Amino acid sequence: MTKITNAMNQVLIIDDNQGIANALEVLFSLYDIQTLHADTPETGVEILQSEAVDLVIQDMNFSVDTTSGKEGETLFQQIHEKYPDLPVILLTAWGNLEMAVKLVKSGASDYLTKPWDDEKLITTVKNLIELSELRQQTSALISTSNHRAQSLSENFDLCGTLFNSQEMLQTLTMATQIAHSDIPVLITGPNGSGKEKIAEVIQANSSVNDKPFVKVNVGALPSELLEAELFGAEAGAFTGAQKKRTGRFEAANGGTLFLDEIGNLPLSGQIKLLRVLQTGEFERLGSSKTHKVNVRIVSATNANLLQAIKEGSFREDLYYRLNVIEIKVASLSSRDDDILPLAINFMPDNFTLSRHAEQRLLQHNWPGNVRELENVIRRASLLATDQHIRCENLGLPEPDLPPVKNSHQAEPDKTTLLEILTQNKFNISQTARQLSLSRQSLYRRMDKFSIPREK
Ligand SMILES: Nc1ncnc2c1ncn2[C@@H]1O[C@H](COP(=O)(O)OP(=O)(O)OP(=O)(O)O)[C@@H](O)[C@H]1O
Ligand SMILES: [Mg+2]
Repeated sequence: MTKITNAMNQVLIIDDNQGIANALEVLFSLYDIQTLHADTPETGVEILQSEAVDLVIQDMNFSVDTTSGKEGETLFQQIHEKYPDLPVILLTAWGNLEMAVKLVKSGASDYLTKPWDDEKLITTVKNLIELSELRQQTSALISTSNHRAQSLSENFDLCGTLFNSQEMLQTLTMATQIAHSDIPVLITGPNGSGKEKIAEVIQANSSVNDKPFVKVNVGALPSELLEAELFGAEAGAFTGAQKKRTGRFEAANGGTLFLDEIGNLPLSGQIKLLRVLQTGEFERLGSSKTHKVNVRIVSATNANLLQAIKEGSFREDLYYRLNVIEIKVASLSSRDDDILPLAINFMPDNFTLSRHAEQRLLQHNWPGNVRELENVIRRASLLATDQHIRCENLGLPEPDLPPVKNSHQAEPDKTTLLEILTQNKFNISQTARQLSLSRQSLYRRMDKFSIPREK
């Protein structure tokens, strides 16, 4: 439905009772909301086809002799199927409460019992219209960033990196932009967040993508083996070294060397590494012959190297050599837009996720980031009995902060929003998670209520 912003909002009332339609029309006119009236479900559906309607208020019974609410159900389903984003409020008698609740669960925005409270009705209608306008703006925004995301995937090899968040779009844009130069890159980010993936993207889009890409986990090597591993060793150079050993620097010559967990490199290794980075020169263990290589260095760490420098466990000069460019990979919990697309990607084909499971995935804090998500989904896929992953298959703990349900339509008002923000010390990710909103949606609501972003 296209709508000119700032045009008067229009509400369609579908009710066979002329008295109700009139009363609503008078009420809405006081708030500059136009009304259209249909006295049968059929006319209602016809009007929706020809008019720009922002919201529907519908009765549950139309024939004089029915009170089951079945007609209302059929009408709602017809509308909801065709216009899934159009807010629908059900007007119901006490007798149809159960049906109304059922329909709210399947997508109706709200229900009001007759006789309704004018003030509550107007507030609900205004909130719903505003929310649906926000949704439209968001989907417009998403489609621009989709466009950027699409051109990124068309022009670069993203090595299967999946993303939907603005944060990851930025990270990948940066990675692909700097890929072609040979400057050293330091990738930082928490455990399992995708640092190695970013390193692969850099290599795949570099001018040396047909040359070796050699990975060394410097953190996992005992320090006495590290030198031999990086620089190679002549036969007999140390106990146990029977054969000549080619070091990783030589193996990566002309290509890229990925030094993972660089924060764990002992100081002795740091000095040697610094020298190769400065001169490209090194000697194999047990030899005095100098070798020269040309290697692009990409390193990664989940440690805070600036802190390590302060503590004296990491050399500042090495840090600045490695970190000509820093690419930060955000934690999964701070880019919740990525959670469901990644989860779906990790599920076997034809598997589905229950809504409850989706919610739990969005609420979890993901200390192990993408790797943890991958493990959780793989395990859940094995436990699911019918290709449908349910909340209990995930084995995730109950969230510490239960989602706030102030009504069946969890749209927080200003006071609630401020309360929850304060509880969370204005931590946006945490608050958004508690409200089951994306961070962007939370920001929009804060802007709407003029709540400053910093406290
Ligand atoms: N955006 C993504 N799309 C698809 N798979 C991803 C993405 N990010 C991470 N993964 C997958 O999640 C797992 C962890 O990612 P990766 O090894 O790159 O993280 P890391 O930050 O290097 O972790 P660590 O800190 O443990 O070294 C891998 O199996 C990787 O393929
Ligand atoms: Mg890694």
